[in-house]
This record gives sequence, structure tokens and C-alpha cells, in this order.
Amino acid sequence: MLKLEKVSKAYITPEGKLPVLRDLTADIPAGSFISVMGPSGSGKSTFLGIAAGLDKPDSGKILIDGDDITQKTENELAVIRSQKIGFIFQNFQLIKNLTALENVALPLLIGGKLKDNEIMQRAEEILIKVSLKDRMKHLPGQLSGGEEQRVALARAFINNPKLLFADEPTGNLDARNGEIVMKMLIDLNKTFGSTLIIVTHDPVVSSFTDKVLEMRDGRLMEKPKQMNPYYGIPTLDETPVTETKSIPPTKKRIGKKKLSNQSGVKKKIKSAYFVGSAPGSTESETPIPSKKKAIGKKKSVKRK
Ligand SMILES: Nc1ncnc2c1ncn2[C@@H]1O[C@H](COP(=O)(O)OP(=O)(O)OP(=O)(O)O)[C@@H](O)[C@H]1O
Ligand SMILES: [Mg+2]
Repeated sequence: MLKLEKVSKAYITPEGKLPVLRDLTADIPAGSFISVMGPSGSGKSTFLGIAAGLDKPDSGKILIDGDDITQKTENELAVIRSQKIGFIFQNFQLIKNLTALENVALPLLIGGKLKDNEIMQRAEEILIKVSLKDRMKHLPGQLSGGEEQRVALARAFINNPKLLFADEPTGNLDARNGEIVMKMLIDLNKTFGSTLIIVTHDPVVSSFTDKVLEMRDGRLMEKPKQMNPYYGIPTLDETPVTETKSIPPTKKRIGKKKLSNQSGVKKKIKSAYFVGSAPGSTESETPIPSKKKAIGKKKSVKRK
């Protein structure tokens, strides 16, 4: 799925050239769940950004499904990112003039495959999953750091990306929300076979991944996997988090007035999206069936 061959990257700073990645080579098969650890400043975020095609290396190849992304134009890269890649930034990168709900819906609205009301419904469901039911209409500036992080997570998850890069996805979260997010990551990996690469400083988080890589001297080394230091073994139960039992029907909450306003929102989102930075995935090969559809089916069975 993802291969890096002799990738190097240095930043030019007032003090001179700062080499960060040095001939970094890695081979990450499809369906892997990998954590990347290492000291602050060792180059983890640089590696993620380059591997996801958000930044260019100075030399080396990056192959996604056999395709060298270093040879692509910006437009070609945008298409690859929109079809396959989700990215959760360390500093969230939410679009400031869009509400939490609009930020989450954005990748699907850009992708344009689902109807707007289905998209908004899915965005609501996923925000409820990350405990943000009462913050959907807040702008990023009206959210706490942990809340912003959960909005960024919801946005990255909305399309079940094939390849997800997450930079310290639980860094600002309390234990309960950290666990919800870990369950969502595990579920994305198990249910959709997505390849996940997450940067974390937390050994509890890395204990849930298949493999731990450590950034050292500009390269990734495999680190012996540690058991969960608090419990001995990973403790999250196997309940898939896509279950929506506890989520109340959203049909009512998305009123007609709000839906009729969607084309305006879409315009606002499109202009914000293309001016701002790409927040990641916008397509899904296997969209999660919408709650509305599921409810509809049940009802029609009853009527018969
Ligand atoms: N745009 C830039 N220009 C110059 N130097 C940079 C730039 N971005 C990062 N650096 C430097 O490159 C090094 C690696 O940065 P990076 O953000 O990849 O580290 P990190 O491992 O993600 O750290 P942390 O755990 O603190 O997030 C750091 O020393 C940082 O100061
Ligand atoms: Mg970082």
C-alpha cells in the first residue's frame, strides 16, 4: 500500500540546513495499523506530511499502491488524496468560518457522491459518536482544544479512508474520549481494512497497534512492541464503534429549513476548502450505510 524508498528531507533555517529525514525506507502493507513514536522534534510530523503527499521530499520515492506520488502534479495529488487518504493534523487545521458540522461534512460535500441531507446526517452521527452533539454549530474558535481535535477526527473518518494518517489523534483528549477515538480507529482498520499510521507519544495507544516504529536519526526503526503498561494487555473491547444503537434518529433534527440552506453552505465550504489546506479524504469506496436508510427499511418491513 505505502512504500518509502530512501526519502530525505531537510529544512532550510536561519541557522542553516536542518536534515530531518535521512534515506528513510519503509514498507507498510495494506491493512496495517502502525504507530510511530520518537522524541519531540525527531521528524514524525514531517514523515507523515511527506508520506501523505502534503509536502515534497528532497529526494526518494513514495509509492502509494505502486504509484510514485513524488512525480505527480498538485492536481493529480489532490485527486489521490481525495480518493484514498485521510489526514488528522497535529494542529487540527479546521476551517475557521465553518461550523463543526460543516467542517466534518466537508470532504463528502466536495466528493459530491451522496445527497446533501445524507451527508449532513452522517456528519451529525459521527459528531455524536465523538461526544459533540451539543457543539455542532460552534465555530472552531468556540471549541476547546480537545473538541477541535474530535471535530478533526470526525472529518477524517467521515469517508472511511483507505489510508489514514493521524498525528497524535488522542493528544488532547481525556481518557473517555481517547478510548472512543481508539475504538473508531480500530474499527476503521478492522471493518474497512484501512491502513492506519498514527503518531503518538502514548505507549497505551501504541500498544493497540500491530507494529511500533520509532523515528531515530531521520529513519524509522521497528521497536519491540510493549504490552499495555497499565493493564498488561490491550483492554479495548471488540465492539465495533459503527454500531449506532444509542444514537437517536437524526431525521427530525435536520429540519427542512436547514436542508434547503445546504447549497449555500456548500458554496461557502467549496471556496473555503480550495483556498485553505486540504483536510484529507473526500471519497469513499465503501460508505457506511446511512442511518436514515436503515430506519426506512425497518419501517417498510413493519408496514408489510
Ligand atoms: N517548516 C519548517 N522549517 C524549519 N524547520 C522545521 C519546519 N518544520 C519542522 N521543522 C523542524 O524539523 C524538526 C522535525 O519537526 P517535526 O514537526 O517533524 O517533529 P515531530 O517529531 O513531529 O515533533 P513533535 O513530537 O514535537 O510533534 C524539528 O526540529 C522542527 O523544529
Ligand atoms: Mg509532530
